[in-house]
Amino acid sequence: MKTYAIAVLPGDGIGPEVIAQAVRVLEAVGERFDVRFTLATLPVGAAGVAAANDPLPSATRAAVLKSDAVLLGAVGDPALDGAPRELRPETGLLALRKLLNVYANLRPVTIHAALLGCSPLKPERLRDVDLLVVRELTGGLYYGEPRGRNGGGASAVNTLAYSASEIDRVARVAFEAARGRRRLVTSVDKANVLEVSQLWRETVTRVARDYPDVRLEHAYVDTAAMRLVSEPATFDVVLTENMFGDILSDEAAVLAGSLGLLPSASLGAGPGLFEPVHGSAPPLAGRDIANPIGAIATVALLLRHGLRLDAAAEAVDDAIAAALDAGARTQDLARAGESPIGTTEMGTRIVELILAEALEGLS
Ligand code: IPM
Ligand code: MN
Repeated sequence: MKTYAIAVLPGDGIGPEVIAQAVRVLEAVGERFDVRFTLATLPVGAAGVAAANDPLPSATRAAVLKSDAVLLGAVGDPALDGAPRELRPETGLLALRKLLNVYANLRPVTIHAALLGCSPLKPERLRDVDLLVVRELTGGLYYGEPRGRNGGGASAVNTLAYSASEIDRVARVAFEAARGRRRLVTSVDKANVLEVSQLWRETVTRVARDYPDVRLEHAYVDTAAMRLVSEPATFDVVLTENMFGDILSDEAAVLAGSLGLLPSASLGAGPGLFEPVHGSAPPLAGRDIANPIGAIATVALLLRHGLRLDAAAEAVDDAIAAALDAGARTQDLARAGESPIGTTEMGTRIVELILAEALEGLS
C-alpha cells in the first residue's frame, strides 16, 4: 500500500478544530482509495511559542522537510500582538513558507450553486465566477530588507523588492494553471507608479511568449480590486505579488459567501504547504462553530497538487458539494430559517459522503 508522510500543523485559534475534521477526511480517503497516511502533528505559531518559545520550533522544521506534504490550520493569537517580531505567530508562518520555498500560492474561488445567496453580491454578478488567484508568496514587502523601525520608533521602513527570476517562476505557475482552465491570465500590478511593478509587467510579458495559447492581460491593482466585485466572472487566473495577493484573495473570498470555505495550496520544488485561507479567528475558537470546509477543501488540494491523487481529490470536492446541496450549513453560511450545524457535525457529514460514494463505487 502506498504510504504518504503528512506533517500536520494545527496551529492556533480554530486551526486545531478545523484540522481535526480535515484529518478525519484524510483518513476516510485512505480507507476508500487504499492509501495510507502517516501523520506527524507539530506545533506552529502561538502553539510553537507555548511549546518551545519559537513560532516555528526546530522539531517542526525537521518534520516538514521530511514530509510529502504539510497540512496547516492557522496561526495568530491576539495575546501575542505586542510580542517582539521573532515571537509573533505570523513570523512562524512566514519562516515556514520560506523554509519550504513555496513561492506560488494558489487560492481558487468557486461558487457553490447552493450558496449563491450567501454572498453580499447580487447573484447575477456571481454567475460563472470561477477564478484562481496565484499569489507570489516568498518575496516582496513581506520579506524585503531593510525593514524595521528607526529613530527610536518615529519612522519605519519596509522594502518592496523582486528579481526577474522570482517573477518568472511564479508567472509560469499561473500560465500552466491557465492551460487547464479558460486560458486567461490577468497580471495585477501598479506599474503606473512602482518600478518593481514595471519589472513585474515586463517579465510576465516575456514569460507569456512561451504560452501563446494563453491570453495575457495586465490590470492595475486598484482597477482589479474594483473588477473583482463589479464583474468577477471576467477573471480566470489572477497573477500577482505577495501583498496585493493577500488583499485581493480576501476580497475574492467574499464572492464565495464565506472566508471559511476557501482552501489554498502553496507550491515550490519540495513538499507543498496546504492551508485554509481563513485565519485563526480567535472569537470562534473552542466553540465547535467554525466552518471546516476551507480545511477540508484544502485536503482536496493537498491530494491533487501535493500527492497527485486526482480521483481522491475529486471525491473530497464532490462530498463537500453534496453536503452543501443537502443543506448542511455552519453558522457562517446559515441564513434566516436555516439551523446551523457545528464544526464536528459538518465533518461527519462530509466523511459519511466520502464513504458512501465508496459504497456506490462497489455496487
Ligand atoms: C494569509 C494570511 C497571512 C499573510 C498572515 C497570517 C501572515 O493573512 O495567508 O493570507 O498575510 O500571508
Ligand atoms: Mn491574508
